[in-house]
Amino acid sequence: MDIVQEIKKLKKEKNAIILTHCYQEIEIDEVSDFVGDSLYLSRAAANTNADIIVFAGVYFMAQSAKILSPNKKVLLPNMESGCLMADMIDVEKLRTFKANHPNIPVVCYINSTAEVKAECDICVTSSNAVEVVKSLNTNKVLFVPDTYLGKWVEHNLKDVEVITFNGFCPTHLRIRPEDMINARKNYPNALILAHPECHREVAKLADFVGSTKEIMEFAKKSDNKTFIIATEKGVADRLNRDSLINNWGKNFILINDKIICPNMKKNTLADIYNVLLTEKNEIEINEDIRLKAYSTIEKMLYVKN
Ligand code: 13P
Ligand code: SF4
Repeated sequence: MDIVQEIKKLKKEKNAIILTHCYQEIEIDEVSDFVGDSLYLSRAAANTNADIIVFAGVYFMAQSAKILSPNKKVLLPNMESGCLMADMIDVEKLRTFKANHPNIPVVCYINSTAEVKAECDICVTSSNAVEVVKSLNTNKVLFVPDTYLGKWVEHNLKDVEVITFNGFCPTHLRIRPEDMINARKNYPNALILAHPECHREVAKLADFVGSTKEIMEFAKKSDNKTFIIATEKGVADRLNRDSLINNWGKNFILINDKIICPNMKKNTLADIYNVLLTEKNEIEINEDIRLKAYSTIEKMLYVKN
C-alpha cells in the first residue's frame, strides 16, 4: 500500500487536516496541510473548518489545538510523544511557585499542559514571548516552565524582571558553549542561529536568536551561504530541502548530531494512517479546564506579533 496516498484519501473522506511541527520527521510534510512552529499551528487549529485535526507534534500541541477547537476531533498519532519540558511542571508545582511569589502575573510558555495553562494569566510561544510580556505593561512577571526562554525575554525587556521556574528543554541544553566556539572555528563564514530555549551562555555566542519561524525566515532572507543551526534537527532538514528545491545555494549544518527531540520523532506515517483510520488517540480535556486554558491562549492570540 502507498501510505502517503492512503493518508491523503482518508483526509479527503473524513474532512481531516494534518498539522505538522517543524521538528517532525521531514517525510511527514508530504501529507501535511500546515507545517510550522507552535504559534503558526495554533492559529491554523483555531481557524480550520475541518472535522478532524491530526496533530503531528507533541502532546501539549495537540491539547492546544483541542483547547482552541473544542468541537473538532483532535488526534495525536502517538500518545507517547510528550514534551519533556512541559512535564517538568504540574499544577501543584505551579501553585507552590505562585505562592512563593504572590500577586505577580503568570506567563506560561505554550509548552505546558492544559491544567497548567488554566492557572496562568497569559500564554506565549517562542515567536511572541517578548512582545506578549511587553504588552502586559508590568515590571515583574512569573514565567513557567522554561527558565531560558524567560531569561531571553528579560534580556530583551530591560525594565521587566522575569522570575522563572526551573524547567528546561533537555534537547536544546545538549548544545554547549564549546559547540558554538568550535563551529565558529570550523566555519568562519557561517552565521550561527539559535533558539531561545538554549542556555544563555550558548545564546550569547549566536549571531541570531529566534523561534523556529524566525530562524527559518532569517536564513531565507540572509545573503549568507552557510549557517549553523543551533536548534532541533528538523529545522536544518527543512532548510536544506528548501534550499535545494529553490536553488538558494545555501548550506545548513546542525550544531551537533544530538539535537534531536526524541519525543517529536515518535510520530510516524504509519501512526498517522492508523489514527486517521481508527480515530483513536483522541485528545479530551475537562471543559472547565479547557475554558480557563482557552482564555490564557486567546489573550496571547490577540496580541499583535
Ligand atoms: P516553537 O515555538 O519554535 O515552535 O518551538 C516549540 C518547541 O517545542 C521548541 O523546542
Ligand atoms: Fe519539548 Fe524540547 Fe522537544 Fe521542544 S524540543 S518538544 S521543548 S522536549
